[in-house]
Amino acid sequence: MKDDPILEAREVSFGYPDGTEALRKVSLSIPRGKKTAFLGPNGAGKTTLFLHFNGILRPAGGKVCFDGRDVRYDHRSLLDLRKNVGIVFQDPDTQLFSASVLQEVSFGPLNLGLPREEVWKRVNGAMAATGTVHLKDRPTHFLSYGQKKRVAIADILAMRPRVLICDEPTAWLDARHADQIMDLFDKFNGEGMTVVFSTHDVNLAYSRADYIYIMKNGAVIGEGLPEQVFKDLGLLQQAGLERPWLVDVYEELKRKGLAVKNSWPKTKEELFSSIAGKDFSLSRARP
Ligand SMILES: Nc1ncnc2c1ncn2[C@@H]1O[C@H](COP(=O)(O)OP(=O)(O)OP(=O)(O)O)[C@@H](O)[C@H]1O
Ligand SMILES: [Mg+2]
Repeated sequence: MKDDPILEAREVSFGYPDGTEALRKVSLSIPRGKKTAFLGPNGAGKTTLFLHFNGILRPAGGKVCFDGRDVRYDHRSLLDLRKNVGIVFQDPDTQLFSASVLQEVSFGPLNLGLPREEVWKRVNGAMAATGTVHLKDRPTHFLSYGQKKRVAIADILAMRPRVLICDEPTAWLDARHADQIMDLFDKFNGEGMTVVFSTHDVNLAYSRADYIYIMKNGAVIGEGLPEQVFKDLGLLQQAGLERPWLVDVYEELKRKGLAVKNSWPKTKEELFSSIAGKDFSLSRARP
């Protein structure tokens, strides 16, 4: 899966001015056209790494590559990189700056110099997709935190980057909006967009990501397909992560001889269909 990376970090090290070593020789590849999740405890270095992916931070050692080429840090190269790699910040307050939601979401596409019609198509599309149309005339600073997060996502989606990086996309969102955002990522991913996100939600990473990296103390301590990563109990313990509930329930069913399938379910429906025995909902429905 990683034969064709769109982004790479090669031995990237970075320290903040106060002396905090946030990344220690991190090497990794982001597979093109896939959804990659980053897990890891607070302070692991996920946000710091993401800020390297579109050149907001510059490595103190090592390098970042986009589409096979080293990232360069002159003004033009950075503008070009940021057209291709869009970041939704962890904290929407650091991203939103316009007076109204409409101005906010249209700022990026207008700046790209696109024809007006294309700008409105993208802006309306991004607002509809994130459920923010009804907020369009509201000042961004009066929105609730979850609404801000959705506007911040619309902001970047309207730019149609080749890589969408989203730092904790579902933090602060209610369950319905969280699902909606993840479905949206699936849709854009289906159209070829590479998606990268960080999360503290193991269930989300397990069921939504194609590939997972686990970070701790500024380093990658594990990686693999979701089923590989969550099979490694030592790794999970080291990272302080739980196993997804779907896997726990399935393993318990298997232990009791109640599972008919021999692979981990990715959805609730797959879990239900792996349970041996009568279909109770059908048998109950009969008179
Ligand atoms: N502006 C900053 N100045 C100094 N240290 C910082 C700064 N930003 C982050 N750090 C430190 O760098 C390390 C990595 O932080 P980072 O925000 O990248 O972690 P994270 O994995 O994104 O954590 P979280 O899950 O809490 O978002 C931490 O020790 C943090 O305290
Ligand atoms: Mg973070």
